[in-house]
Amino acid sequence: MSRAQLEVKKLVKGFNGITALAGFSCSLHQGEILGLIGPNGAGKTTLFNVVSGFIPPDQGVVVFKGLQVTGMPPHRIANLGMGRTFQNLRLIRQLSVLDNVLLSFREQPGERLSNVFIRWARSRAQEATNRKEALSLLEEAGLADKTADPAEDLSYGQQKLLSLVCCLAAGSHMVLLDEPVAGIAPEMIDRILGIIRDLPGRGMSVILIEHNLDAVMQVCDRVIFMDAGAKVSEGTPDEVRNDPRVIEAYID
Ligand SMILES: Nc1ncnc2c1ncn2[C@@H]1O[C@H](COP(=O)(O)OP(=O)(O)OP(=O)(O)O)[C@@H](O)[C@H]1O
Ligand SMILES: [Mg+2]
Repeated sequence: MSRAQLEVKKLVKGFNGITALAGFSCSLHQGEILGLIGPNGAGKTTLFNVVSGFIPPDQGVVVFKGLQVTGMPPHRIANLGMGRTFQNLRLIRQLSVLDNVLLSFREQPGERLSNVFIRWARSRAQEATNRKEALSLLEEAGLADKTADPAEDLSYGQQKLLSLVCCLAAGSHMVLLDEPVAGIAPEMIDRILGIIRDLPGRGMSVILIEHNLDAVMQVCDRVIFMDAGAKVSEGTPDEVRNDPRVIEAYID
């Protein structure tokens, strides 16, 4: 069996007596879309924060592409090819839609060139490539007519779409999406799910946190239900949907 792209082992994280992660383990394979569901406060976002380096775990290990990344700063983990979105979006509101995407491209691994002119020429060429790629991503997302607008002028659904485009611009191999379709109109949900569904075809694997179970069931290969920082159920979307423990949690 091929080695998992991400392996999370026995993560523990507490905040002033609250246990957000209670020995949580999971893995993600290349090209897989994994759904992560569970009630408010279950520890889903905390898992993303630990995996992407934003907060250190109290115990446990995160292995990404075979490398121990536990405790590494977020920008180093991002440079290894891990992208994420945030529940509160984190767009730069006054900047244009296009500039938000341009800022999301990863730094190119810097060749140490002493010749200033070659360095300048290369960075101009890189800018042009990034711009083309950004416009093409915005076009695919249906935001082509908004590129010059300040991000704050977009509807909430369009802002969510933009934050997904920004995440994709980073050219990551794995993306962590925190509630990408929460609180938006049905047609925008379909547009965003369409993009997510295509990510494995672009060489990306995905962990998707969502309260919208229909969305999770539509796009995920595998689903984990977590509660109180621990895994309660794991399987195919149908298996998890029909698990009595999950049904009970969602009916209550
Ligand atoms: N930075 C923090 N400081 C203190 N407590 C925190 C912090 N982050 C999370 N928590 C607490 O940890 C628990 C898990 O929170 P988390 O945000 O991971 O839940 P979640 O599953 O993402 O919930 P939701 O579905 O509402 O987004 C909650 O009790 C929360 O209040
Ligand atoms: Mg959350």
